[in-house]
Amino acid sequence: MSLKKDLLTQLFEENKNCQKCKLSTTRNKFVFGTGNPDAKIMFIGEGPGKEEDLQGLPFVGRAGELLTAIIEKGMLLKREDVFIANIVKCRPTLDMAGTRDRPPDREEVESCSWMLLKQIEVINPEVIITLGNPSTKFLLKTDEGITKIRGKFANFNGIPVMPTYHPSYILRNGGANSPLKKDVWEDIKQVLKLLNMPIP
Ligand code: URA
Repeated sequence: MSLKKDLLTQLFEENKNCQKCKLSTTRNKFVFGTGNPDAKIMFIGEGPGKEEDLQGLPFVGRAGELLTAIIEKGMLLKREDVFIANIVKCRPTLDMAGTRDRPPDREEVESCSWMLLKQIEVINPEVIITLGNPSTKFLLKTDEGITKIRGKFANFNGIPVMPTYHPSYILRNGGANSPLKKDVWEDIKQVLKLLNMPIP
């Protein structure tokens, strides 16, 4: 086992029963994140949805299908090659009754985001791709909206960060035929170029 894998396993084990915030009272599963501890690319979303909460894995619902297609059909990588995580590890819902999802609130981000920062520190990826407003605003400490800020490299502790649209936003805005898909592809191409990886 690699040192990075050991450290991530330890982080998971020490926190999988976390009760630091109210999301622990409604969660089915703690969604730590998944992928290659030595990944060059890390994707960061906002928080688990319904399917993620049931399976304990990030991005396995409808938005996840789209993210997986971006990784596998677009970038010609495997999901296992990258690392996928969220700002919060338990599912936030509007009424705390497991119906509609919502972004994590300030208190939830405050009590949970240290774990994402630790994951970034351990994995030390060559590039981070933030998906949507919450993870972009959190990591880059900005109030700028994703539409303005996407497609331009920023920096987090020396790591290049490419903000792009969240797959759920694409699904809500045209789905398979969304014009936003082209923008995401442009952003991803910049990442591949930075890493000297082939652009399909
Ligand atoms: N949306 C997210 O931000 N993260 C997930 O894991 C699933 C949907």
